[in-house]
Amino acid sequence: MKTTLRPVRDGFTSPFGVLVATLGSAVGLGNIWKFPSLTGTNGGASFLLVYLAATMLVGLPVMIAETMLGRTARADAVTTFEKLAPRGQGWWKIAGWMGFAGSLLILAFYSEVAGWVYAYIFKSLAGEIATTDPAVARAAFGGMVSSPVQALFWQWVVMAVTGSIIMLGVARGIEAVTRRLMPLLFGLLLVLCVRSLTLPGAMQGLVFLFRPDFSKITPVVALTALGLAFFKLSLGMGVMLTYGSYFRDTQNIPATATRVMMADLAVSLLAGIAIFPAVFSFGFEPAAGPSLVFMIVPAVFAAMPGGRVFMTIFFVLTAVASVGAMLSLLEMPVALLSERYGLGRSKAAAWAIAAVLLMGAPAALSQSLTAHLTLFGLNPFDLFDFLSSNVLLPLGGIMICLFVGWVFGLPQLELRLSNEGRLANAGLVRVVFLLVRYVAPLLIAIVLLNGLNLF
Ligand code: PHE
Repeated sequence: MKTTLRPVRDGFTSPFGVLVATLGSAVGLGNIWKFPSLTGTNGGASFLLVYLAATMLVGLPVMIAETMLGRTARADAVTTFEKLAPRGQGWWKIAGWMGFAGSLLILAFYSEVAGWVYAYIFKSLAGEIATTDPAVARAAFGGMVSSPVQALFWQWVVMAVTGSIIMLGVARGIEAVTRRLMPLLFGLLLVLCVRSLTLPGAMQGLVFLFRPDFSKITPVVALTALGLAFFKLSLGMGVMLTYGSYFRDTQNIPATATRVMMADLAVSLLAGIAIFPAVFSFGFEPAAGPSLVFMIVPAVFAAMPGGRVFMTIFFVLTAVASVGAMLSLLEMPVALLSERYGLGRSKAAAWAIAAVLLMGAPAALSQSLTAHLTLFGLNPFDLFDFLSSNVLLPLGGIMICLFVGWVFGLPQLELRLSNEGRLANAGLVRVVFLLVRYVAPLLIAIVLLNGLNLF
């Protein structure tokens, strides 16, 4: 019998599997919870426009560059920068460590929001939340998030579920789970859209979502949109890099990234169309923030026959979508700890989960016990969100751009994006290079410095 000399590295098994897992990382609470809530608090259509621009000019090129780096080095984020950086420039690996911190920070609050979703599955089954009355909806959500026991309980359930899947490994765990349920979620969002659009006064919601008022674009709004673009496509923190390290050599990276970006945008837009018409129709407040989706989705379902069943299915699918994103968030530190420090996968996962639960507790308790623990006026939940999306991810994004644009260069980029010696989409790759070398880092720097008020 032939024996292999090196252990075969785990990885995705087919082009379709790659697409689904990558999409599974991108699509998540970002589309269904964060996108509507940020669009609502930041002025609607004008925010959407800035977000679209950020996704095309910064998001897509960074996604291509980041996955390419992972596939080139076939290693975790820190080791990748270490391997690919020129001699004497070991400091590039800071980008990998920032991603490590970022993924844990995001998980700390993301797991809490996922916990709300899990809780809403049971609440909709019990018929507790089916109401179109803003006051009742607000009270139901408020009651849940301000209970320390409920908040912590659901967060732990979420991490237990995610942890068990991650221990199964890349191909069996991540790929198998994410490939099945995405199409269902899409279908149910469509149903929601139709119901929302046929409510009386739906037009006002569409105007809010699609007619821009440019006076509403402030530096903070621009930074929020850029942060969302990174968050949405799981960029700037080594998550896509780690997934790229599992891509096969034959995978066409630019095509995969473009598809993921478009599908992801489609899901966000559907969520927006499902939510805003109903917001205005029922007299909710578009700027309600993180609670928005948890009030509007039940309201729309409550206004249709069989709503309770659909509502339950909807929250189940949202929970599934959140799993795909969390698996990728957890895979980043797990890959790093297990490959760099030789920890077994399960041990690495256990450490990462312990860290998440430790950091997650203050985030989960932000509406109760830790509400007064503010920094820059933000409670732990909002602080983790702000620090990761609006600081760490853009910074990581700049480093990836500069690394690929200036250290790597065009010939190397073309070589690494080629499959079996052939470069498909050569024109697109050249545009990506220009974006990564000049446009994206400049845009990120300007938006970041302005948004943080450092100019
Ligand atoms: N993209 C995921 C979402 O929208 C969240 C995420 C952010 C996942 C960063 C990985 C890394 O829900």
